Amino acid sequence: MENKTVIAVIGCGRIAQNAHFPAFAQMDNVRIKYACDLIEEKAQKMKEKYPAVENVITDYKVALADPEVDAVYVLTPNYAHYTVTMDALKAGKHVFCEKPITVNYALSKEMAEEAEKQGKILNIGVCNRYHKSVEMLEQLNREGKFGNIYHVYCSFRSFRSIPGLGGDFTTKSQSGGGVLIDWGVHFLDLILYILGGAKLKNLTCDAYCEMAKDMKAYKYENMWAEDTADIENGTNDVDDFISGHIRTDKASISFNGAWAQNIKKNEMFIDFLGDKCGARLTYGGKFEIYDGATLETIQPEYDIPDMYLCEDRAFVESVNTGEKNRSNIENILESAKLLDALYQSAEKKQEIAL
Ligand SMILES: NC(=O)c1ccc[n+]([C@@H]2O[C@H](COP(=O)([O-])OP(=O)(O)OC[C@H]3O[C@@H](n4cnc5c(N)ncnc54)[C@H](O)[C@@H]3O)[C@@H](O)[C@H]2O)c1
Repeated sequence: MENKTVIAVIGCGRIAQNAHFPAFAQMDNVRIKYACDLIEEKAQKMKEKYPAVENVITDYKVALADPEVDAVYVLTPNYAHYTVTMDALKAGKHVFCEKPITVNYALSKEMAEEAEKQGKILNIGVCNRYHKSVEMLEQLNREGKFGNIYHVYCSFRSFRSIPGLGGDFTTKSQSGGGVLIDWGVHFLDLILYILGGAKLKNLTCDAYCEMAKDMKAYKYENMWAEDTADIENGTNDVDDFISGHIRTDKASISFNGAWAQNIKKNEMFIDFLGDKCGARLTYGGKFEIYDGATLETIQPEYDIPDMYLCEDRAFVESVNTGEKNRSNIENILESAKLLDALYQSAEKKQEIAL
């Protein structure tokens, strides 16, 4: 028991239930001392499902005051990432905070500075950096397989996927934005990772809030996070469609994203255009390589392990060794800066230089 990393999980909602608790159940080097949620039943449900959970609490400060706790998982909605993470770091805990870092770049930087000041690990839940396809593409690019990747195009478009309409997901002050910060964060972060840390130069972006501008008139088949929706009295002031173009010192990047659109297709992919080879990555799945010399299509054979388990194992290892890894906040700030600048460009309707 002594050699295990003692953790507290703050926020026992969907990502906790679907990703992190199942991962912890496969890790024999962690002790889950606390499951915490403002809604006690949610934390209690986790204890019932995972008897290894030792205590159920509703006030996360109880876990922060416990000297035995080494690290906390911040799995709350975006608006609470900053406060809970800062409190945890100041209490001397290592932190894993779900993506996006927080609602804007200025606060993200403060979180990074606090982690540095406290000498603690702060990792962000950019789980795709641990997806086997992303790892392989990053390596293939490093080895020169694609030649010069001059452009990356990505699409994260769905027919009807606005989450929790009227709730915190669609309220900019609480979420930081819509489809760009919720989905685009994953796509743009993994692109920067595969490119090997491109330096941002300038960009332009347009954001739209069209599909549910009259929330009561929005037609949908089913809604993710419907329990947080407030269609009658809530707010929807975020992007449901986003389009942008980014220049970097490496490839340029263009993208279109839709939480909702009147095109009945879900198109989630990233195209890497190299002068030797190109690749299309189906988001969350596998990739194909198109060889410019042989005109062949190559479909590599491989298994895809659970990326959440890989990221959680990597976090605990980082806590134990003190070595910063690929999802340390230091390596994610650039994509947070990018999101911020894209939103600024959309708001000002002009190009932004970085
Ligand atoms: N990495 C991924 O692929 C991925 C996927 C989904 C969600 N997320 C991120 O995970 C976070 C949570 O999303 P979700 O869908 O699980 O939300 P959710 O609403 O299902 O769960 C969040 C939980 O946090 C609790 N909570 C809020 N404030 C709290 C506080 N101060 N103390 C304790 N509990 C508190 C809420 O009661 C709720 O149960 C978001 O930031 C989201 O962007 C990441």
